[in-house]
Amino acid sequence: MNFPKLIANWKMNGSSKLVKEWLEEAQDKIPKDYQTKCLFCPPVCYISDASKLISRTDSDLLLGAQDIDAHSSKSLTGGISGSMLSDLGCTFVIIGHSERRINFKEKEIIIEKLKSALSSNINVIYCVGEDSSEKESGNTTKKIIDQLSVLKGLNPKNLMIAYEPIWAIGTGNNASSEYIRDVHSVIKNELENLLSSNTDIPIAYGGSIDTSNVETIVKTQYVDGLLIGGASLKAAEFSEIAKISLNF
Ligand code: 13P
Repeated sequence: MNFPKLIANWKMNGSSKLVKEWLEEAQDKIPKDYQTKCLFCPPVCYISDASKLISRTDSDLLLGAQDIDAHSSKSLTGGISGSMLSDLGCTFVIIGHSERRINFKEKEIIIEKLKSALSSNINVIYCVGEDSSEKESGNTTKKIIDQLSVLKGLNPKNLMIAYEPIWAIGTGNNASSEYIRDVHSVIKNELENLLSSNTDIPIAYGGSIDTSNVETIVKTQYVDGLLIGGASLKAAEFSEIAKISLNF
């Protein structure tokens, strides 16, 4: 599977106009052969627009969704299934983001969402991360291992992990290189335990990445990709991050 190196998670931001401008600028500024490594995840209401623009402009950017529903065939008002996302050209979906765990109280449903995505052949970016009190009380490893446990028994072929410490999201306070390396190493070991096959599941880092820290983060051992929120909203900044990271 061609996993992305850079993921733009727009969260609940944007408009049709901004999506169009962003895609045109990103298509222009990100080197063509690196576009296949960049995944754009707009709000679900703009995925259709984005999909059409990507094919019309002959862009190679990948398209992803920020959420998926747990059921693929059920009477579910407001539901968005994996086959619908696939139909629009989405090849990835983000599951387990801390903002959904906290604001939508997602917990047990996460495993259903994982199964739903994988059964629709949508690749999953599964997010894990500790909050500041878990970090301060030395419980980061415990939290990560607990969040990874839902992956047991799943097919690892279509999985990517994103480590996003909650205290680093949108705070301007990114985790240090050493800290990221240590947590990613815990994730790698735990994935081997859980999935009992020699899978090389990529692990992305997310949390206050910008043009000033991306080089250090992307060079960090066990960092295979970057999940970017705020700094992905402007195409110029995202493209700059792409140019810095494409050398690593
Ligand atoms: P920021 O890059 O704004 O810290 O957001 C990270 C994130 O949550 C991406 O999913």
